[in-house]
Amino acid sequence: MRHYITPLLSNTALCTSMYQLDFHLDDIDSPPRPGQFFTVRITDSFVPLLRRPFAFSRFDVTDNSASCIYQVRGNGTKLLSTLGKETPLDIIAPLGKPFPLPQSHQRPLLVAGGIGLSPILFLADELQRLGADYRLAFGCRSAAYLPDAVFENRPVAFCTDDGSREFHGTAIDYLKTIAPSLPPDTVLYCCGPYPMLHGCQAVARNRNLRCYVAMEQVMACGVGACMGCAVRTRGHQSYVRACKDGPVFDAREIEWE
Ligand SMILES: Cc1cc2nc3c(=O)[nH]c(=O)nc-3n(C[C@H](O)[C@H](O)[C@H](O)COP(=O)(O)OP(=O)(O)OC[C@H]3O[C@@H](n4cnc5c(N)ncnc54)[C@H](O)[C@@H]3O)c2cc1C
Ligand code: FES
Repeated sequence: MRHYITPLLSNTALCTSMYQLDFHLDDIDSPPRPGQFFTVRITDSFVPLLRRPFAFSRFDVTDNSASCIYQVRGNGTKLLSTLGKETPLDIIAPLGKPFPLPQSHQRPLLVAGGIGLSPILFLADELQRLGADYRLAFGCRSAAYLPDAVFENRPVAFCTDDGSREFHGTAIDYLKTIAPSLPPDTVLYCCGPYPMLHGCQAVARNRNLRCYVAMEQVMACGVGACMGCAVRTRGHQSYVRACKDGPVFDAREIEWE
């Protein structure tokens, strides 16, 4: 983990309320892995005070260039979307634990919803590089919220709440329809809003499939110091920190509410 002040390379609108942020992380000791994240201080003023966490959607070790796909949610991300080229970004990275990669006999099925797209795309690229046979499902409100460009040449099923692109329903509705035909060595990799993760783990539990979830809790410090991102777990250790012990967890470890 290191602190960087690095110029913003580009901040590109992808679709309604979604942007891609590009920057460099030079002299990095341990390059980010899929599932890991960074925090950025968006402004020098007091509002918003806290750093905002975002997952990497790409990291290229040949030139140390990094990307993230983010959605405008509130003040911080709205401000982020207005930053132009060369704006100095105040970044701490890489943070958290990555997704464990599948074994050679396992079949990865990646499920992303809305703001959960970044780490899932990064994982998809890594699986492609390793020659793994993966599939991807992406869920969003409507076709207007679908960043087509990032899905080019990927084996993806689109799920839209209003049916404006491909499957009519949520990513969970889609997962339920294909669940009976999933091979037993399927491994689910999921990132998105809590109800989506909850639904993914329920499908995985019913079919006895391994399932990893990246929990995008609201965070304060982002480095394990405040317990602001506590996640309730099963067993003896009842709370863990999403920022330090996660954000990726085996879904069986979580006490789902
Ligand atoms: C490890 C991690 C990785 C993340 N990766 C990404 C990413 O790749 N792309 C992306 O778009 N977002 C990502 N997020 C979520 C992102 O951090 C929040 O959307 C952002 O901090 C909101 O800031 P804001 O000031 O715009 O909104 P705020 O004004 O703080 O909040 C606006 C609304 O967004 C909700 N919100 C705030 N934080 C979160 C959160 N963490 N999860 C869900 N809802 C939230 C609030 O409850 C509120 O309704 C990630 C979060 C974590 C913890
Ligand atoms: S955000 Fe402070 S411990 Fe995780």
